[in-house]
Amino acid sequence: MKDLTPLYASLRCAYADLARRLSGEGCSCGPGALCCRQAAGEDLSDSLLFSLVRTADRVLDLGAGGGRDAFLTAVRVGPEGGVTGIDMTPEMVGLARENLESYRESEGRGPVEFLEGYLEELPLDNESADAAFADYVVNLTLDPSRVLLEAARVLRPGGRLILADLVPGDEFTRPPSREDHPFGKCLDTLLSRGEYLDALSSAGFGRVKVLSEEAPPDGDRLDAPWPSLLGECLDVPFRKLTILAKKPG
Ligand SMILES: C[S@@+](CC[C@H](N)C(=O)[O-])C[C@H]1O[C@@H](n2cnc3c(N)ncnc32)[C@H](O)[C@@H]1O
Repeated sequence: MKDLTPLYASLRCAYADLARRLSGEGCSCGPGALCCRQAAGEDLSDSLLFSLVRTADRVLDLGAGGGRDAFLTAVRVGPEGGVTGIDMTPEMVGLARENLESYRESEGRGPVEFLEGYLEELPLDNESADAAFADYVVNLTLDPSRVLLEAARVLRPGGRLILADLVPGDEFTRPPSREDHPFGKCLDTLLSRGEYLDALSSAGFGRVKVLSEEAPPDGDRLDAPWPSLLGECLDVPFRKLTILAKKPG
């Protein structure tokens, strides 16, 4: 597989900048108010995540950032389960590991670890997880179909994938790349709603269910980098989807 690091240079720089800011250090990628939550639009709701993850599950957090979702999930899976967060940005993995020090595996919470790696080539064994989730990350990668294939590979038969993502309507016209924006290259590989659901089926997920689908964020929230880029560049509205996909058992 080709080396992803040069392709992800500007996005990794933007996320590294955010990680440094979150840990109180200076920035190196220049000005810009990138923030994980803002970059994504909104987080996968805790109640949804909690209803889909079970006690003793081995769970993957795909694009773990500073680890918030991973720590919340560890409460649900308990000491017999575990959570592995994967992230491509070394500074984010560093931040998540720092946060791990203040997190205590006690009071029924499960073990948590963070690994550096690309979602397109997960550093994990085949069929090693019961569930995986990605919180507004897949359609922000440079190869969403490949990410879904990798998720299918590492889930055990019967495993669950829980996704939140922003997707354009099927009739969208692909806008030109935007080299001036950290998320600009993601426009080249953005999947529409139909393409996204097809990619899940092609990756081997037998049951794919859209759990919720909402209108685009209102004007107030469009100042976040990714939704604002979508709002600016797309000729059709985009939707906020949450999806549950199951690998055949
Ligand atoms: C929206 S944040 C994740 C928020 C996180 N779930 C939390 O609890 O804070 C997105 C993260 O995904 C990571 N990321 C984006 N594309 C990636 C890829 N292709 N491979 C691995 N990590 C990726 C970024 O480095 C960033 O830390």
